[in-house]
Amino acid sequence: MNELCTVILAAGQGTRMRSKLPKVLHPVAGLPMIAHVIEACRPLCATRTLVIAGHQADRVKQALAGEALEFVSQPDQRGTAHALLQTTEALAGFDGDLLVVSGDTPLLTSQTLADLLWSHRETHALATVLTTELPDPTGYGRVIRSATGAVLRIVEELEATQQERQIREINAGVYCFAAQALFLAIQSIRPSAVKGELYLPDAIALLRDRDGGVQAHRVDDPDEVRGVNTRAELADIHRILWRKSAERLLAEGVTLLDPERAYIGPLVRIGSDSILYPNVIIEGQTVIGEGATIYSGCRIRDSTIGDDSVILDGCVIQESQIGSGCHVGPYAHLRPEAQLRQHAKVGNFVEIKKSIVGEGSKVPHLSYIGDTAIGERVNVGAGTITCNYDGFAKHRTVIEDDVFVGSDVILVAPVSVGRGAIIAAGSTITENVPPDALAFGRARQVNQSGSASVFRSNHRKE
Ligand code: UD1
Ligand code: CA
Repeated sequence: MNELCTVILAAGQGTRMRSKLPKVLHPVAGLPMIAHVIEACRPLCATRTLVIAGHQADRVKQALAGEALEFVSQPDQRGTAHALLQTTEALAGFDGDLLVVSGDTPLLTSQTLADLLWSHRETHALATVLTTELPDPTGYGRVIRSATGAVLRIVEELEATQQERQIREINAGVYCFAAQALFLAIQSIRPSAVKGELYLPDAIALLRDRDGGVQAHRVDDPDEVRGVNTRAELADIHRILWRKSAERLLAEGVTLLDPERAYIGPLVRIGSDSILYPNVIIEGQTVIGEGATIYSGCRIRDSTIGDDSVILDGCVIQESQIGSGCHVGPYAHLRPEAQLRQHAKVGNFVEIKKSIVGEGSKVPHLSYIGDTAIGERVNVGAGTITCNYDGFAKHRTVIEDDVFVGSDVILVAPVSVGRGAIIAAGSTITENVPPDALAFGRARQVNQSGSASVFRSNHRKE
């Protein structure tokens, strides 16, 4: 089998978005648009993936750091064929199949890409273009076929005649090419008379009469190949994506009280018998177990939530791990690396960052817990705060099993509280508390008898 390389076109500014952010970095369900494309390409196991970056290339590179990608620069964007030309050096000598996708088609699926590649290899075509029929093809390149149905060329909307604009079969902007044939053909592509750009779709007309010819691979679901050029199209993409996720989850046994108000990303997994109230946003690689309940107004991202856990209204949960049978919220904020072990409880107006809340432990009200390890069966009183930052560095707090922390306690880190200790309400704890100790860290109260009436009469005189 031929070797496969992938090229992702991502150098354009995306003028029609009217944005400072490069188009391919606009978030779709919490991930940059181009990350969805990379995800769709992944299962094809291309030996190399090249990303053409130009407009704000550094920003694009930064957003994709950590991925096995090669970046090729296209400093001035003179069209999609010009973009491909930039890879001539990087791909010199490469004689395999080249999959070309746009960074702005985030709903593409791996299945469709695999089907396209399979059909390309089976027909031994020099080029296979992915197409679909759109009810409203406005803005897309149209596929011109001969009377017998052979693909002749692709015409861009701007250059199309009135008659050609009636054609509803469009170029999805995804292609498989025999690499050598493509590089030869793009040498002969001439700038468009209207825009002055070099159009990659022009390669189709140039290759069609050569041995092997060109093919089209039609995809049935037109939504899959929708490109994003405008904010309105970005909104369409989200609607489609959320609807698809909702349909998938309903089929998998998840209750969505209002499927039209479930904003769930494509990579999210949710176990059966879980219930989602309206207006929940779940993004990234989030995994929720079975029988969990998520109430309205929660935003959850790149987190795991165990079976039977309940997340009450208005919580923000990011990069956190929540065990089974936990209770969170309402209005809790779990920041990255918050870990709740099973049956833990984090209540209203509590913020947890980079901390473990051990099995059966509770932080029920108005607390900040940062850089802390809380053991099992610990009760943290209302208003307790870990002072983890001294203006220079972060410090850790350790609270061992069975500790009782009274209300409104300040724990000045680094500090540790031994197993079974009790901390009196209102204490400021600056020194370690040994196991089983009762710690008081506050001034003694003074009751001056009769002084209240003296105070009042003094004030009346004034
Ligand atoms: C393109 C196709 C059109 C197709 C549509 C599908 C061309 C000329 N037209 O149109 O036939 O129906 O996609 O969505 O290819 N890019 C670069 N460098 C450039 C120009 C563009 O890297 O110089 C990148 C863009 O960042 C984008 C992709 O190529 O990711 C497509 O460019 P875009 O301007 O969106 O093309 P369309 O007008 O949508
Ligand atoms: Ca586009």
